Amino acid sequence: MPDRRTFIKDVSAATAAVAISSSSFASSFIASADKVRLGVIGTGLRGQNHLELLLRRKDADVVAVCDVSDTMLTSAKSLFSKAGKPLPKIFTGDNYAYRKLLEEKNLDAVIIATPWEWHTPMILDSIRAGIKYVGTEVILGITLQDHWDVVKAAQNGNAHVMMLENVCYRRDVMAAMNMVKQGIFGELMHLQGGYQHDLRGVKFNDGKTAHDSGVEFGEKGFSEAKWRTVHSVHRNGDLYPTHGIGPVALMADINRGNRFISLSSFDTKARGLHEYIVKKGGKEHANAKVNFKLGDVVTTHIKCANGETILLQHDTNLPRPYSLGFRVQGTNGLWMDGNNSVYVEGVSKPHQWDAAKVWFDKYDHPLWKRWTRDAEGAGHGGMDFFVLHSFIESIKRNKPTPMDVYDAAAWSAITPLSEKSIELGNETVEFPDFTSGQWMYRKNDFAITDEY
Ligand SMILES: NC(=O)c1ccc[n+]([C@@H]2O[C@H](COP(=O)([O-])OP(=O)(O)OC[C@H]3O[C@@H](n4cnc5c(N)ncnc54)[C@H](O)[C@@H]3O)[C@@H](O)[C@H]2O)c1
Repeated sequence: MPDRRTFIKDVSAATAAVAISSSSFASSFIASADKVRLGVIGTGLRGQNHLELLLRRKDADVVAVCDVSDTMLTSAKSLFSKAGKPLPKIFTGDNYAYRKLLEEKNLDAVIIATPWEWHTPMILDSIRAGIKYVGTEVILGITLQDHWDVVKAAQNGNAHVMMLENVCYRRDVMAAMNMVKQGIFGELMHLQGGYQHDLRGVKFNDGKTAHDSGVEFGEKGFSEAKWRTVHSVHRNGDLYPTHGIGPVALMADINRGNRFISLSSFDTKARGLHEYIVKKGGKEHANAKVNFKLGDVVTTHIKCANGETILLQHDTNLPRPYSLGFRVQGTNGLWMDGNNSVYVEGVSKPHQWDAAKVWFDKYDHPLWKRWTRDAEGAGHGGMDFFVLHSFIESIKRNKPTPMDVYDAAAWSAITPLSEKSIELGNETVEFPDFTSGQWMYRKNDFAITDEY
């Protein structure tokens, strides 16, 4: 694969063609390659998941990693030894050591798996450094302006920014998507999704073990407790919308013939995190005095240009089993993942649910049929394989990524918009059009083959 700097020289000529359509990203500069050289920024728990999968691949070389934590870097390095692969170049020392990693020659792509507040600066610096493929973990930015900044930088830098939203590749989600595309549910009307995950044992720990080990957070916490929890202190909105919205947005052709036009959000009072601290650490514990701003259940309603509604739930502070709460409903029937059921009028017995499995076996997505064995052992039931696979295959072919910067921006911007809606007393707020009108022309080509 040619040096990315050769590519940059040609960018000005290509800028006019950058426009916006996912197929209009310049793609003629780099010949397709069979091996991709990557840098990974952030080798915490999620970064290590990605490393494990990358180290399994013959078409990916991780040549550089960066983190500020020695503990995390030690774990990351052991993954290379275990896989029998050469150790990458290590960048560490301070919060901006990643900029040195970005100066490495011949990096085809970077993967960013750091705390949310680092994603925007790291994406922007990657693009500035000439990287053409940036895979970022979920959440594109904190403020609405962050989202615009990334969109504009991707356009100007002719770069592909893919949010590594793995749930879009969950097997049942893809089967449901397949059913939607084949018109089994009829015309789409209403969709639901969310992030309903009891994170109390993640937001707090003992500073050494990631889960269910104590009530510390911030400097005294480990992994996500170190940075994620403070967002629950200062922010009130749907802080983690993408696992729920990504799949249903793709089903509803968002940014590809449809778009979000407005949203309003509602929050409950905040009780769960405080009660957890008191229950586990006692009411004298210093953290028992912390006031958490994040409502325990935040509900967001989105209106789409083509007339569908979407209901999102963010529910991370209360005791509950995990569920993303998907519902995909059209004029002929629906899927609800909460009760694992499908109903299709004229096929299902009237007013009776079918087990979803019967339908999903029949409509199993071609990607899953082809790559099941490769996905075995990959995180989150195999879906983590697919999201990295699609990123790597796009780079090898020098093609746009299946989920692009417009998807990333629209899905992730729900957070600042929901915060604004709540702040304004649940007012309905307008959704920006990051595609600047191109949503009317773009086609939905997400996962239309069994390749990636
Ligand atoms: N898609 C999924 O299923 C999934 C699952 C878990 C986490 N995530 C996402 O992955 C991201 C990382 O989460 P995590 O669970 O790995 O958290 P983590 O705390 O375990 O890892 C984050 C890492 O980033 C490092 N870091 C912080 N600042 C840095 C800097 N300036 N330069 C370099 N490294 C820096 C930390 O030291 C840490 O090792 C988050 O966006 C999170 O939401 C996604």
